Amino acid sequence: MPDLESFIRALPKAELHLHIEGSLEPEMVFDLARKHGVTLKYPTVEALRAAYDFHDLQSFLDIYYAGADVLREESDFYDMTAAYLTRAHADGVVHTEIFFDPQTHTERGIAMGVVIGGISRALKDAETRYGITSRLILCFLRHLSEESAMQALEQALAFRDQFVAVGLDSSEKGHPPSKFARVFARARAEGLLAVAHAGEEGPPAYIREALGQLKVVRIDHGVRCEEDAALVQRLATEQIPLTVCPLSNIRLKVFPRMADHNLGRLLQQGLCVTVNSDDPAYFGGYVLANYMAVAKALALSRAQLRQLARNSITASFLDAPAKQHWLARIDAFDEVES
Ligand code: ADE
Ligand code: ZN
Repeated sequence: MPDLESFIRALPKAELHLHIEGSLEPEMVFDLARKHGVTLKYPTVEALRAAYDFHDLQSFLDIYYAGADVLREESDFYDMTAAYLTRAHADGVVHTEIFFDPQTHTERGIAMGVVIGGISRALKDAETRYGITSRLILCFLRHLSEESAMQALEQALAFRDQFVAVGLDSSEKGHPPSKFARVFARARAEGLLAVAHAGEEGPPAYIREALGQLKVVRIDHGVRCEEDAALVQRLATEQIPLTVCPLSNIRLKVFPRMADHNLGRLLQQGLCVTVNSDDPAYFGGYVLANYMAVAKALALSRAQLRQLARNSITASFLDAPAKQHWLARIDAFDEVES
């Protein structure tokens, strides 16, 4: 029997919750700062990494947006995305659905085409090089206004063929999904799918709102659903996927310790939970590290780990034949590996 890490690495997996700006490693932050003559608040890579000591979502977001300021040219977005895809491929990720935050860049005067162009070019090259497939999801920053989100959407529609869905991220508390109902309606009218961060720090009511008002097909995080038994039941019955990010939840103090994480309980109740890395450069690990952390802390069985991999494929935006291909690979893997 292969060791746990080899077993998880070899499982075909999709990553469905990854902020590309959150994959910007401190070394690349320094390289890009040097390239563009940007003075950083921290003198060294080590000092920057040491600042990644968060007490909640907002304390992380403040550093995350500051880090993204070094992204200026198309090649910067390309290099950041290419580096993520290389790491994801090494972890056994076969398909990835990537969030990007255009407002973080357009508000600094970076053109939408520079952002989408650099990311898309890296996605294409990685598919050629590694066979890894991908989709892009445009996220609106919920701490900004509805008008700003609508403007970002209108600008991005010039590149409509390069993303498949819209999402909602940033500071959750005090910014309910309902604030963006009209923007999401406009996006859906364009044929875009919808997802939203909800129930990370915010209450279960935000998950209900995201489903009811934004018509999302997946919930990002969603771990606070557990406080509402009827909602848990609904998520299980309707098989609405949750893109859970274990290391993120610990680093942002959503749960005190990994042993307290509710992923195992939600899985046991039949929810379509998936494992993802959120902002791996900031939270201490990519997708394999996230699987390893929950596998160990929650003593997940190999059958449960295979279920998580299956869920990631089922919950993805891949077409039916591609899903069948990967699910068959996971099933075949069952017999050989365990
Ligand atoms: N942006 C990047 N990571 C995020 C997270 N975990 N929650 C909300 N917004 C984010
Ligand atoms: Zn996230």
